[in-house]
Amino acid sequence: MNLEVVILAAGKGTRMRSKMPKVMHTLAGRPLLAHVIDAANALNPKAIHIVVGFGADQVEGYFSEASVSWVEQTEQLGTGHAVLQALPGIADDSTVLVLYGDCPLIRPETLKTMVDLAQTGPALLTAEMPNPSGLGRILRDDQGALSAVVEDKDASSEQKQITEINTGVLAAPADKLKTWLPQVKAENNQREYYLPDILPMSLAEGSEVATTMPEFLWEIEGVNDRIQLSQLERAYQDRAARALMEQGVTLADPSRVDVRGKLVCGQDVFIDVNAVFEGEVTIEEGVSIGANCVIKDSYIGSGSDIKSHCVLEEARLDGYAIVGPYARLRPGTNLAKGAKIGNFVETKKANIGEGSKVNHLAYIGDSEIGAEVNIGAGTITCNYDGANKYPTKIGDGAFVGSNSTLVAPLDIEAGAFIGAGSTITKTVPAGELAVARNRQRHISNWQKPEKKASE
Ligand code: UD1
Ligand code: CA
Repeated sequence: MNLEVVILAAGKGTRMRSKMPKVMHTLAGRPLLAHVIDAANALNPKAIHIVVGFGADQVEGYFSEASVSWVEQTEQLGTGHAVLQALPGIADDSTVLVLYGDCPLIRPETLKTMVDLAQTGPALLTAEMPNPSGLGRILRDDQGALSAVVEDKDASSEQKQITEINTGVLAAPADKLKTWLPQVKAENNQREYYLPDILPMSLAEGSEVATTMPEFLWEIEGVNDRIQLSQLERAYQDRAARALMEQGVTLADPSRVDVRGKLVCGQDVFIDVNAVFEGEVTIEEGVSIGANCVIKDSYIGSGSDIKSHCVLEEARLDGYAIVGPYARLRPGTNLAKGAKIGNFVETKKANIGEGSKVNHLAYIGDSEIGAEVNIGAGTITCNYDGANKYPTKIGDGAFVGSNSTLVAPLDIEAGAFIGAGSTITKTVPAGELAVARNRQRHISNWQKPEKKASE
C-alpha cells in the first residue's frame, strides 16, 4: 500500500528561546527536520507533507529543493488539528504515518514496523519512560489492549503514575483518519484537538489499536530546549563514534569527535581528539588525523598524515601526503602523492605535484605546480591585482627561494631556480636562475646616529 508521511513542524518551540523555528535548530550540522525527512525517505513514501506554522517561510526556504509538500497551519490548535490540515492532500487508499519534526533520531526500522502494523487499523508507538511527566499516558483495559491516551494536563494523579507513554508516532489508514479526525473535539484542559483522540473511535468500531515500542529510547526523544538538543547531539555523536570504531577506526577519545555529515573511513585510520568532520569526507586506509582538525567535503588518500590544527575544505589528497601542523587547504586544493604542506601554509585552487613541498608560511593560489618542486618559506603567489585573478605555473623540479613574490600570470619552467627574496614578474625559462632583488651594498665610513642631549 502507498505510504504518505505527515511531519508536524508548526510549533514555535517557546522553550528554545529563539527567533528561529525549532525544527531549524541543528543536530550534527543539519536542521532537526532534515533528519526526520531522511528517516521518512528511507521508507520510499509516495509523498511527504510537512505541516508548518511558526517561521514557515524560513523552513520552506531552506528545504526548497526537497521533494515535499507544505501545509500551513496558521494557528497551532493541537496535533489532531495539524494532521487534519494535511488530509485533503492525501489519497484515501494510503497509509498515513505521523512524525514530529523535532524528534530527529527516529530510526527507519522502527517506522517500518509501525507502517506494517497500520495496514487495517491505527498503530501507536509507545515507550516505557522512567520519568513520564509532561507526556501523554497510555491507558489499557483488563486484557491489556490500548483504550485511550490521556494527556498529562488532563490526567488524574492515578493516571500520572503510568509510565507507558505516547511517543507521538502514529500510523493509520488514510480513509479512517478522514472519518475520525473531523469528529475530534477540543474538550480538554488545553482546548486542543488531540490526535490520539481518534484511537477510542477505532475501538468503538471494533478495531484494536496496535502498539509497538522502539528499540532505543533516544529514537523518540524530542527537542524542547537547548539542553535536550545538546543531549541528543551527544547521543547522535556517540552512535557515529561507535560505528567508526566498529569499522576499524581508532578514536583517541570517542567523546571528542564530531561528525556533521557523512564520514567514510578505511581501516586503521587514527583520529585524535577534537576533530570535526563536515559534509562528505572520505578517509582512506592508514590515514592519521591530528588533534583539532576541521575537515569538510574532502578526500584523503591512504597513508596521509594530517597533523594537528589543520583546516581542509574541498581538498583532495591522492595519498601519502603530509599536511600541517597549522595548514589551511581551501577549496580546489589537490595534492598528488607524497606532497607536503607545512605549517602556516594556505592553498587555494592549487594542484601540487608528486613529492612537491611547500613547507612553511606560504600562500599558493590559482597555481599549477609540477612534481618535486620546492617552494621556500614565505613564498606568495600574487594571484590578484585587485580586480582579477591570474594563474601561476611552476614546472617539475623547480626551486623557489624563500620569501619570493610570484606576480601572476606567471610561468616558472621546469628546473628553474629563483633566488631568495625575488619579485618575479616574467617567465623564468627552464633551468635558469632568476634573481630579482637589489644587490647588497656596503658603506664603510658611515656615521652612526647619536642620541640628542636632553634640554
Ligand atoms: C504530544 C502528544 C503526547 C505525547 C507527546 C510526545 C498530543 C495531544 N499529545 O504532546 O501524547 O506524549 O507529544 O512528545 O498529541 N504541532 C503542530 N501543530 C499543533 C500542535 C503541535 O505542528 O497544533 C507539532 C509540534 O510542533 C511538535 C509536535 O507537533 O513538533 C508535538 O507537539 P507538542 O506540543 O510538543 O505536543 P505535546 O503536547 O508535548
Ligand atoms: Ca513535546
